[in-house]
Amino acid sequence: MSPSTKTPERSGGFSRRDFLHGSGAVAAAATLQTSATAFAQQATGAAVVSGETTIELSVNGTKHKVKVEPRTTLLDVLRFQLDLTGAKPICTDGSSGGATILVDGKPMQANIMLAMQAVGKEIATVESLAKDRVPAAFTACDAQQCGFCTPGFVVAVKAFLDKNPKATEEQIRSGLNGNICRCGTYVNVVQAAVKLVKGDA
Ligand code: FES
Repeated sequence: MSPSTKTPERSGGFSRRDFLHGSGAVAAAATLQTSATAFAQQATGAAVVSGETTIELSVNGTKHKVKVEPRTTLLDVLRFQLDLTGAKPICTDGSSGGATILVDGKPMQANIMLAMQAVGKEIATVESLAKDRVPAAFTACDAQQCGFCTPGFVVAVKAFLDKNPKATEEQIRSGLNGNICRCGTYVNVVQAAVKLVKGDA
């Protein structure tokens, strides 16, 4: 075969061999994924969901239909689909407490909870506490500076005092240790919680 009729092996830095190698890898990966899905379905007996699907979430007393992928966090749904931006993406591992919400009355971190896990549960965000006495106590005690951590603290205080209405200051400090404030307003936050226990706020 003359050089002019020979099929070019390499064009623009990408060879036919590279292409065949790459497409083979993609096909193998797809096969593996299909096998993994089938295996997971067999092992758990539950349907394995992939791609986008519509679920219904009950948030602050209202039911919402939202579109999610299996990897979608509850925080992303709250912020980007329901426009509830109180819970904050301060961290990605739940260590800051910035994304604290209530799920069936219990404090959870919306950034490490999948939206699908919240189906059938009652979700309450800080927005539902607008008229609660907790944010009023925060205001009275000047318990925020930049305010970025404040929604998480408000929900955490609400959850803690609902469960421990007679908590001591020491217990409050311990109960709120999952929330971090970079501005260092801990003293005022605890003061607000103590006032709530005493009925002064
Ligand atoms: S008030 Fe700024 S992080 Fe807490």
